[in-house]
Amino acid sequence: MTILVTGGAGYIGSHTCVELLNAGYDVVVVDNFYNSVPAVLDRVEKITGKKLKYYDCDIRDREGLDKIFAEDKPEAVIHFAGLKAVGESSKLPLLYYDNNISGSVTLFEAMENAGCKKIVFSSSATVYGNNPIPYKEDMVTGDVSNPYGRTKHFIEQILGDVYNADNSWSISLLRYFNPIGAHESGLIGEDPNGIPNNLMPYISRVAIGKLEKLTVFGGDYDTKDGTCIRDYIHVVDLAKAHLCAVRKITDSTGIEAYNIGNGKGYSVLDIIRAFEKVSGSPLNYVIGDRRAGDLPAFYADASKANRELGWSAEYDIEKMCEDTWNFQKKNPDGIK
Ligand code: NAD
Ligand code: UFG
Repeated sequence: MTILVTGGAGYIGSHTCVELLNAGYDVVVVDNFYNSVPAVLDRVEKITGKKLKYYDCDIRDREGLDKIFAEDKPEAVIHFAGLKAVGESSKLPLLYYDNNISGSVTLFEAMENAGCKKIVFSSSATVYGNNPIPYKEDMVTGDVSNPYGRTKHFIEQILGDVYNADNSWSISLLRYFNPIGAHESGLIGEDPNGIPNNLMPYISRVAIGKLEKLTVFGGDYDTKDGTCIRDYIHVVDLAKAHLCAVRKITDSTGIEAYNIGNGKGYSVLDIIRAFEKVSGSPLNYVIGDRRAGDLPAFYADASKANRELGWSAEYDIEKMCEDTWNFQKKNPDGIK
């Protein structure tokens, strides 16, 4: 069975390609390498000892997509391709709406045209906004404070309309919590361009000496130690959830959302302590001001994914930090 993976050279996509190849699927990647490099895919092949096919193609290129669907006849799509920097999305909203929303609509049109109606979509816990925690899939979503988050909410709504118009679609909306960690080989991992926006890549660059110190965004929240609480999930656990979702959409039609998280909350200071333990050195950090738009605390109720997808997270915070540190040490200058 052939799976088309948009954004397959990116952080979560590359780890998912490893799991797909290991499970015996044929993989076709579509990526424009805006935030990744083709060398990542060589590393996916090295890890698995299997070949995949890739196209340097933008998901907004309808003609390009039509050719790929005609040539490779994928039975299902996993749709990772998108821009994801929350702060940048407030400065460049039209770029985000064009890339994420127009790109997704173009992809869905190409799928419909090819008769491929099975899709797993990368959504985000951000769609829950200010709901009480833990977040559950049946909560009202969409109270989102930035254009990036709104693209996720809108694409979920668009897919809902697509299903309502044609019940032969099979759609899985995976709402990721905070993916961190790396493949244990150290060959692939999170490798952002420039200065990282997210906590874990920032910590690992401070630890390796590429950045001077981490600023903890706020120490005065109403949480156990004053810092924000998040639900961190190992990227390999997250990748495996896609395998379960692919199995589910090939067995049935419908549209379902699933929380993909650990169901546990850790503070920024918890993460710093765990990282210091695995790296064996103290991390240089200061407590600074709050970051605009950050929620004090959120984590998943992941029981629906446990029950209906047969998926649950295996790896703990220590393993997440260990694998991040291993990747950072083996790739001090990233993947070229
Ligand atoms: P990433 O940037 O590492 O990967 C995205 C990939 O998509 C990149 O390889 C990029 O080059 C490609 N891409 C972007 N726009 C494209 C386009 N128009 N055409 C073709 N390829 C394009 O990001 P990631 O962390 O792997 O995230 C994957 C998906 O998961 C994204 O949709 C993201 O919004 C979503 N998500 C990520 C997180 C997170 O914390 N990493 C959390 C929730 C949801
Ligand atoms: N943080 C710091 N210092 C930093 C970076 C982050 O203290 O330099 C803190 C943040 O304030 C937050 C926590 O670390 O409390 C995690 O921050 P991230 O930026 O790593 O992650 P977010 O929870 O803000 O956002 C992530 C994804 C979004 C997604 C959201 C909800 O980056 O794409 O989870 O799923 F929308």
